[in-house]
Amino acid sequence: MNRTSGRAKAALAASTLTLLLTAVLLAACGNGESTTATSNNVGEASSSQGGITDPATVSSDPVTDSGNPDEAVSSDGTSGASPSANTGITDPGTSTESPPVSGTGGGSPPASGEAQPDQAVATDPDSIAVLVNKQLGLPKDYEPKDLVYPDVTFTFKEKIEKRMMRKEAAEALEEMFAGAKKDGIYLAGVSGYRSYARQKALFESYVKKDGEEKAKTYSAVPGYSEHETGLAIDVSGSDGKCAAEDCFADTEEAAWIAKHAHEYGFIVRFPKGKEDITGYKYEAWHIRFVGKEIAKDIAERGITLEEYYNAIPVSK
Ligand code: DAL
Ligand code: ZN
Repeated sequence: MNRTSGRAKAALAASTLTLLLTAVLLAACGNGESTTATSNNVGEASSSQGGITDPATVSSDPVTDSGNPDEAVSSDGTSGASPSANTGITDPGTSTESPPVSGTGGGSPPASGEAQPDQAVATDPDSIAVLVNKQLGLPKDYEPKDLVYPDVTFTFKEKIEKRMMRKEAAEALEEMFAGAKKDGIYLAGVSGYRSYARQKALFESYVKKDGEEKAKTYSAVPGYSEHETGLAIDVSGSDGKCAAEDCFADTEEAAWIAKHAHEYGFIVRFPKGKEDITGYKYEAWHIRFVGKEIAKDIAERGITLEEYYNAIPVSK
């Protein structure tokens, strides 16, 4: 692959990034708190929201019945979100790829108002190669332009926001589900695109349930979730068993995804053993579309998207 063109063009501003990452590294020094993966997961499980038929109007889901925090909407307006994370960059000078960033603290990261010194904003959020993590957020008010409904099974019936993905990712998902089916594996979507408002409601519900520190090990602060790019989706088996729960890791569907997702351009974004790099506990169900070439490279090397960009955060 020509990594300096096409889809990875988002990764271009290398010299700018080197400067930025150096600054980030300096800013990050002194905080070595690391993520502790916990067994409690309240991720993006299925639900049965009723009454929502116009996805264009859905920014958060009025919740009805699930009890799963993913389906709970906090409407009190309080924000426990206080993005704080540390980015440690390992040898940015050797990076062949650069995540698209606009500069530390630039672009008014959304979550709690003020940018933290070790945070930056992706400059090309429309790139399928965009790096979004605890340090790299999305521009304020970012919304993907080409969201569609992938023609695949979901764990719920409604045509609602979380059923959507960006077009290219949606097509790849369709191919992946079809490929799995040929192998006797029946997958279902659980939670795809989320608006900022939706992620905010989710995150706040998790903070209420588990406290901010723990919530941040499994849920992104609004403005910093890959789900907001329309390129990520949580997947389960078609029976919905263990959807977005730790036990999904032991299913045949998870095994199939781990082995084959890259063939369709997806990566398991928060792998086991990489918690200190991604900043999140292992999520066997959260896959991120990056395109086939990058996915293959990442899968073959057993690395994360952070490592692919040589931008390794110290998680918090
Ligand atoms: N569960 C992942 C980290 C998210 O909230 O985007
Ligand atoms: Zn997810």
